[in-house]
Amino acid sequence: MAKLIIVSNRLPVKLQEKEGELQFKTSEGGLATGLGSIYKQDDNLWIGWPGQVVEEEDKQQQVITELRKESMSPVFLSEAEIKEYYEGFSNETLWPTFHYFTQYAVYDQQNWETYEKVNQKFCDEILKLANPDDTIWVHDYQLLLLPSMLREKLPDSTIGFFQHIPFPSYEVFRLLPWRKELLEGMLGSDLVGFHTYDDMRHFLSSVNRLVGYGSMHGWINTGTRSLLVDSFPMGIDYEKYAQTAASEEVEKRERIYRSNLKANKLIISIDRLDYSKGIPKRLEAFEKFLEKYPEFHDKVTLVMLVVPSRDEVEKYKELKEEVDEMVGRINGKYSHIDWNPIQYFYRSYPLETLSAFYRMADIALVTPMRDGMNLVCKEYVASKHDQTGVLILSEMAGASKELSDALLINPNDINQMVEALHQALVMPVEEQKIHMKSMQESIKRYNIHHWVSMFMDRLSYVKIKQLSMA
Ligand code: UDP
Ligand code: G6P
Repeated sequence: MAKLIIVSNRLPVKLQEKEGELQFKTSEGGLATGLGSIYKQDDNLWIGWPGQVVEEEDKQQQVITELRKESMSPVFLSEAEIKEYYEGFSNETLWPTFHYFTQYAVYDQQNWETYEKVNQKFCDEILKLANPDDTIWVHDYQLLLLPSMLREKLPDSTIGFFQHIPFPSYEVFRLLPWRKELLEGMLGSDLVGFHTYDDMRHFLSSVNRLVGYGSMHGWINTGTRSLLVDSFPMGIDYEKYAQTAASEEVEKRERIYRSNLKANKLIISIDRLDYSKGIPKRLEAFEKFLEKYPEFHDKVTLVMLVVPSRDEVEKYKELKEEVDEMVGRINGKYSHIDWNPIQYFYRSYPLETLSAFYRMADIALVTPMRDGMNLVCKEYVASKHDQTGVLILSEMAGASKELSDALLINPNDINQMVEALHQALVMPVEEQKIHMKSMQESIKRYNIHHWVSMFMDRLSYVKIKQLSMA
């Protein structure tokens, strides 16, 4: 039977060694949590990096065996590959460029060469496991060259590609010295998907100006084959978040957390520690809010969960220092013996804990400078079983295109964020419910299952269309 092979840099689990024993923990990040709900269906297989260097052959074998039981297959990376392909080219070149932080981008030839080699390594691993009629679905910016590498070896295969982060405008993309190779890599796919229409438009414009291929209704003809480019806003596993939030276990947790917090209004923010998430500006806005509205002192707490991420990369280290310093300063300025305006946690949490925070938060403050989609805001909405709560959401998140019932803000506009916080805190419950209900309806409908079937149906359609075009 033909199977679906999902390929991404990071597997939905990450390997950890505790007292010589191998353990697998759930990975953070939207790609892993989003697709984590669907990959175990049918005969599917997920190929990717297990998140740790594993050198010894017997240990590698053990990892292969363990992962195989869970429908996964590892691609092992060496220290040097992690440094140059993952931290280097993926996260010091592509990530900042695609998120419009061009001043952070490093252009390093050695990192590029390792990026090519590791993409080839992924290709070789896939070829060992794929049958000719399998569908291969490649994910994200770490593997932009893979679709063409696969196409070369499997000319008739079905290859989809989805990018989970923004695609920048041509003016930004063209700064990359390897811009043409990257586009040509992606063009090996049959279907290229983005979260938003704007990302898709930017990609088509770069293809046109850098590779010379025009497009018609998203179709690109390379001279030898046709492929389609389209937008597919990613959803979440709505039922999972709604049901977890309504469970007894989570209700109990909420009671415990509440009894430990003096303030009766809770603002939540949850992200990986990443400069794209706008954490310093968010803190600046919260500080200004406390300054402008002293009547909320003692009454409101910002619970800020920050998940460690890419901590070997220089800009992430700098950001960690900046955030630590800001939180310390704001708390130092406003705390009382029994009230801290900010409760800051730097670690990752299991679903039940996140769910309890989502459930109890009066406000979710989601303020990325740029974000492909942002699933945290959707998870918050899905968890509000009594339909109270207010979502404050950055216009720069892909999700803002769908969630017009949120209080939309520009993350560079501190005053606007201050006023949005105030507006959210005084919003009548009836008004909260109207907006929350409308957002829930849309997130429930356009859930992760809908997203996968939209993408897969379109991919099948492309294969049929290609036959009639040949
Ligand atoms: N997340 C998690 N553990 C945590 C904090 C967050 O698993 O302690 C998850 C969160 O539930 C969400 C994902 O990480 O599904 C973050 O996805 P998002 O799209 O918001 O941002 P990304 O990290 O992909 O940029
Ligand atoms: C974002 C990216 C994913 C990535 C995740 C976590 O969601 O789109 O590709 O896996 O962040 O980042 P990490 O570098 O830890 O895999």
